[in-house]
Amino acid sequence: AADGVPTAFPDNDGKPVGHGRMLRKEDRRFIRGRGRFVDDRQLPGMLYLAILRSPLAHARITRVDTLAAEAHPKVKLVMTGADLAARNLAWMPTLSHDVQAVLATDKVRFQGQEVAFVVAEDRYSARDALELIDIDYEELPAVVDVRTALASDAPVIRTDLEGKADNLCFEWETGDAVATDAAFAAADVVVLQDMVYPRVHPAPLETCGAIADYDAIDEKLTIWSTTQAPHLHRTLYALFSGVPEHKIRVVSPDIGGGFGNKVPIYPGYLCAITASVVLGKPVKWTEDRSENLTSTAFARDYVMRGEIAATRDGRILGLRSTVLADHGAFNGMATPTKYPGGFYGVFTGSYDIEAAYCRMTAVHTNKAPGGVAYACSFRITEAVYFVERMVDRLAAELDLDPVELRRRNLIRPDQFPYRTRTGWVYDSGDYPATLAEALRIAGYDDLRREQAQRRARGELMGIGVSVFTEAVGAGPRADMDIFGLGMADGCELRIHPTGKAVVRLSVQTQGQGHETTFAQIVAEEIGIPPADIEVVHGDTDQTPFGMGTYGSRSTPVSGAAAVLVTRKVRDKARLIAAGMLEVAPTDLEWGRGAFRVAGDPAKSVAIAEIARHAYGGSLPPGVDGGLEAQVTYDPANLTFPNGAYICVVDVDPGTAVVKVRRFVAVDDCGTRINPMIVEGQVHGGLTDGVGMALMEMISFDEEGNCLGASLMDYLLPTAVEVPDWETGYTVTPSPHHPIGAKGIGESATVGSPPAVVNAVVDALKPFGVRHADMPLTPSRVWDAMSGRAAPP
Ligand code: CDP
Repeated sequence: AADGVPTAFPDNDGKPVGHGRMLRKEDRRFIRGRGRFVDDRQLPGMLYLAILRSPLAHARITRVDTLAAEAHPKVKLVMTGADLAARNLAWMPTLSHDVQAVLATDKVRFQGQEVAFVVAEDRYSARDALELIDIDYEELPAVVDVRTALASDAPVIRTDLEGKADNLCFEWETGDAVATDAAFAAADVVVLQDMVYPRVHPAPLETCGAIADYDAIDEKLTIWSTTQAPHLHRTLYALFSGVPEHKIRVVSPDIGGGFGNKVPIYPGYLCAITASVVLGKPVKWTEDRSENLTSTAFARDYVMRGEIAATRDGRILGLRSTVLADHGAFNGMATPTKYPGGFYGVFTGSYDIEAAYCRMTAVHTNKAPGGVAYACSFRITEAVYFVERMVDRLAAELDLDPVELRRRNLIRPDQFPYRTRTGWVYDSGDYPATLAEALRIAGYDDLRREQAQRRARGELMGIGVSVFTEAVGAGPRADMDIFGLGMADGCELRIHPTGKAVVRLSVQTQGQGHETTFAQIVAEEIGIPPADIEVVHGDTDQTPFGMGTYGSRSTPVSGAAAVLVTRKVRDKARLIAAGMLEVAPTDLEWGRGAFRVAGDPAKSVAIAEIARHAYGGSLPPGVDGGLEAQVTYDPANLTFPNGAYICVVDVDPGTAVVKVRRFVAVDDCGTRINPMIVEGQVHGGLTDGVGMALMEMISFDEEGNCLGASLMDYLLPTAVEVPDWETGYTVTPSPHHPIGAKGIGESATVGSPPAVVNAVVDALKPFGVRHADMPLTPSRVWDAMSGRAAPP
């Protein structure tokens, strides 16, 4: 069919869901360079906004002089923190119930913080005029090291919070401390390991930006912005700006990658809104790369201590995790309210462990705010890395094969639904089968034999395993909200008189292929070909309320909503069909896009005929015209995708360069809607994971200067650094999702870093290396080989 979107599925029994090679609808425009991103949009009379940022990490603002900038011939507006404060707009809420300065008023609290903005006729003049703003700072000592942030002599960063006398952000605990102490007391072997998950950045290709357009006649504010959560942002804009919510339209057009970076609200969006309201003109703000890397939400930045207790024959009894979390100057994390530490509580991973306990202390530092879930569901990446490193450390201590140790402790299939010691109920899985499939593809035993031969020749080959469980699809609204808004998703379906359909979603794709997969879901349920189903998303005026796309929640939550709304339409279609065929609705059977009379299959009406009739024919009593429905889906639980990954590396003994030779990834995301897209999601996530394990870190000097402010310093992986991925899958449907699908978008980012690190540590075993912290750059690997790894 046209554009590679088939209307029939001969290799899949006519079923759209699970179709092997259905190409992506959206690639028609992306491959031809016709995507329309925020910065592509030009509006008549549009002005350009640029932001002046703090050069210092911690300083008092003593004088601000904007006169020269205001005198610039092309400048239309200059605003400072004081100007915003006069309008009560200087501070904004964060998604973690903190506040953040839109423009600094009293102090700057991180390098790159927003201090003033200029609006000018063109982008270049706006940038030039920033240079004309004169600011005097009185420098203050910066808090950079998370380990000393709570020292009694540490300067207090959040002096804006009344009575705040330290840099504590929050404390949180989960699990059972007493039971865990008892498990440790009963153990034969206890292993302690300190580890750091460094600060990294989601670094989407498209940086953040917005166009705000306030129409003073209609009193309507339209914001085109790079947002993963248009409806959530609309509510926050209403609260911030005072513009009523029904007069705000947020449009999130094509988005060039989000990875969690585009969930929070940033000061730039609010500056553009303020400027547009003040000037009555459309105002565009677009970040540059350094602004994105230094001021928008980072991820990870956990200093972790792990303790694992086991019997001598490898039965894990207890796991303890102590986390020091760096949240930067403002708590800019986006997380369900009840979960300040995100979903780190799943740190017992895929194992049936008798007792577990975690204590987390989060602190403020003079660094950019954030702590977002970069391609993971609220801090699960950190949890999975933690447990998979600890299990490997234990295997080394017990001199057991890491696969064998895992096998002895994996949750068994008959234990599902499985309640973890920290209260999570895993829905389904067959972890031993998934691991067995990964071992089969990798040829694990052969690899170990090859490793022994190479070691004998002085070569450094490593094999790393990780078995992970993700928790995605936030979430049940009784338990989960962001900013007081329950995490349920709306979905609307309209079938037109000619049998073509429009499905309207509350989620917003950033490259994941929703235009294709949601059409497949609806097609599967109603029998209309995917090519005839238009997916509308990313526009709050056109779509029902919902919480947006992050944490791989689109398929578990909005995907389920799409199934249910289609079934609701189908239920109505049944009533109409019964009238058309003059039988009782209960006499009808559904299949392959038509209702048939049971026992008389020749008598049938297809969905297109029913649609026409819904708008034109006579209807049974009590059935109103049209064929459309809306639902809001509140998930019963999260879904728990899982996987088993095996990484093979070679370390050059002369240069300490790590080469990832092979990577086998077996994922279980339940029912796969589009296997090609699933595979693509896995490829991207694995690349991300190799990047984090080997290359990526946002670091700071002792004055709080960010040392990773460009892609020359902050290294992102490319096709050069990664092998040809070898993927496989198992399918354990989610019992509570209407078609058994679990999320997949982030599994590979979550599961792959520990596999790579475990492989490198395994390669360095001849040197007695037990652990080395990411990113495993040549210098870090060299230091580890030389016994010079930094003390914990
Ligand atoms: O929320 P996000 O879209 O980032 O993550 P997701 O729900 O895991 O979906 C990522 C992409 O993979 C979407 O296009 C899904 O429809 C597709 N997918 C799939 O085809 N089968 C699954 N079981 C899960 C996701």
